[in-house]
Amino acid sequence: MTTSSAPGKVYLFGEHAVVYGEPAVPCAIARRARVTVERRDDDQRRVQARDLTLDGFTVTWGGESDSRPDVDVPTPLVEAAMGYIDGAIEQALDAAGEVGVGFDVTVESDIPLGAGLGSSAAVVVAGIDAAARELGVGLEAETIADRAYRVEYDVQDGQASRADTFCSAMGGAVRVQGDDCRRIDDVPTLPFVVGYDGNTGDTGKLVAGVRKLKQTYGFAADTVESIGDIVRSGEIALNEGDVEEIGRLMNFNHGLLSALGVSARSLDAMVWAAREANALGAKLTGSGGGGCIVALDRTEQTHTALEYTPGCENAFRAELDTDGVRRER
Ligand code: PMV
Repeated sequence: MTTSSAPGKVYLFGEHAVVYGEPAVPCAIARRARVTVERRDDDQRRVQARDLTLDGFTVTWGGESDSRPDVDVPTPLVEAAMGYIDGAIEQALDAAGEVGVGFDVTVESDIPLGAGLGSSAAVVVAGIDAAARELGVGLEAETIADRAYRVEYDVQDGQASRADTFCSAMGGAVRVQGDDCRRIDDVPTLPFVVGYDGNTGDTGKLVAGVRKLKQTYGFAADTVESIGDIVRSGEIALNEGDVEEIGRLMNFNHGLLSALGVSARSLDAMVWAAREANALGAKLTGSGGGGCIVALDRTEQTHTALEYTPGCENAFRAELDTDGVRRER
């Protein structure tokens, strides 16, 4: 039996624009998904998931590729979750040169599902590492990131960048532009506060919406480029340790994401609550439509303000996690 964990992330800058070749800077946070894998004697796959915002569920399905999981919770999120876990197992089998091996898989996660915190990437990264080790193969973090990207790409119908999967596998703050992925060293302390509205955004739909807007309106194409400019300025501010400037740039980034139509009333309400509480900056994180915002605040004020903001279901501080994928057992 093997257990691996991998962190979720917030986007400091650049979501959506990264899909069109602009850079993005996601940062791993100390909230993890843990995946435990045990090889079975048959070719069945049995998955138990807990704490994934949803109530726990158990799914068993057979080895034939055309068999559908018998899911007792009729939600697309569960189907997506199964796709990620199945994809992770396929990648591990491929890395080990094996076929038709069954597994018992248990997923435990502190990361709200589908809320812009990279829960699916964390599950896939941890799942690949745990399943590969169960098959006797140790993979480098970069290789796991690449294989996890292929899973996300498939499950999300090609609407995925490498940002989430690379960040979760490597940990820390990273820079992703197309296929060029690297870690950013020596980042200043980033006092993240996360606000969560309890909702989920449909990443595929939101990405498709931005693509359509960009094809229809010149302003939207310009906005995507402007987000790229903000990311480049953000990298300079990160390098100089200028956290105040990083906060200002996050505010600009949120305004541009709103212009692209991916914010939501609840996200705007949390962003404004953070700003009025004197946060250094605040923005939605991830695909938007609902889910989480991330603010920077060294004081307790934003955390407190978010707790009293209608529509904010949960607010928490999040440390940057410099560890990526981790072997737990
Ligand atoms: O909502 P998340 O955490 O899946 O992030 C999506 C980020 C996008 O830039 C909108 C898409 C992507 O794959 O980069």
